[in-house]
Amino acid sequence: MIRRLTADGVMENINGLCTLLSDSVDSGVSIGFLPPLDPIEALAYWDSVRLAVHDGSRILLAALNGGEVSGSVQLDLCMWADGRHRAEVMKLMVLRTARRKGLGTALMAAAEETALAEGRSLLMVDTCKGDPTEAVYRGAGYQVAGEIPGYARCADGELRSGVLFYKLIE
Ligand SMILES: CC(C)(COP(=O)(O)OP(=O)(O)OC[C@H]1O[C@@H](n2cnc3c(N)ncnc32)[C@H](O)[C@@H]1OP(=O)(O)O)[C@@H](O)C(=O)NCCC(=O)NCCS
Repeated sequence: MIRRLTADGVMENINGLCTLLSDSVDSGVSIGFLPPLDPIEALAYWDSVRLAVHDGSRILLAALNGGEVSGSVQLDLCMWADGRHRAEVMKLMVLRTARRKGLGTALMAAAEETALAEGRSLLMVDTCKGDPTEAVYRGAGYQVAGEIPGYARCADGELRSGVLFYKLIE
């Protein structure tokens, strides 16, 4: 079940969200953090998301399965006057035990539907070149805008290129 979480919903699911983030970081992907993820850093991150959800600049969609958060994705809504039609898709994550069953794709579809309902018609998302996420974004109909060399540092210290994707939705 994919649900849009309120700021209170973030707190109600904080343990599951921290587990999801740690699981993704520990799987070695580039998602803003480097392994091993300090639990305090995970808590601080979700608290920053809670504040952004509260102020209306962020939407958090989560796949809830009992007490577990199996996956999540975020939409960062551009708040500039000239950018109210666009949003950035952020931190698509699925628990390792739930991968390759279509949940990542379902979260991307839910993010698109939510963005449309919010009046956002341009979506952007980035990833490290060669990550499995590229296939998910291409499968969801995103186009490559370009590549940026030396974009993100991997767990082994190497800098990897980033790929910026976009999708126009109506
Ligand atoms: C990327 C991620 C969200 C995909 O979630 P998922 O639920 O496994 O995705 P789906 O089942 O919808 O996969 C859709 C398609 O993407 C491709 N794909 C997904 N994971 C893949 C992998 N590890 N290797 C190769 N292709 C992959 C496949 O084509 C897959 O279709 P198929 O299973 O029918 O072959 C998940 O691997 C993840 O959480 N990774 C860590 C976090 C991350 O990197 N997030 C993005 C950066 S912010």
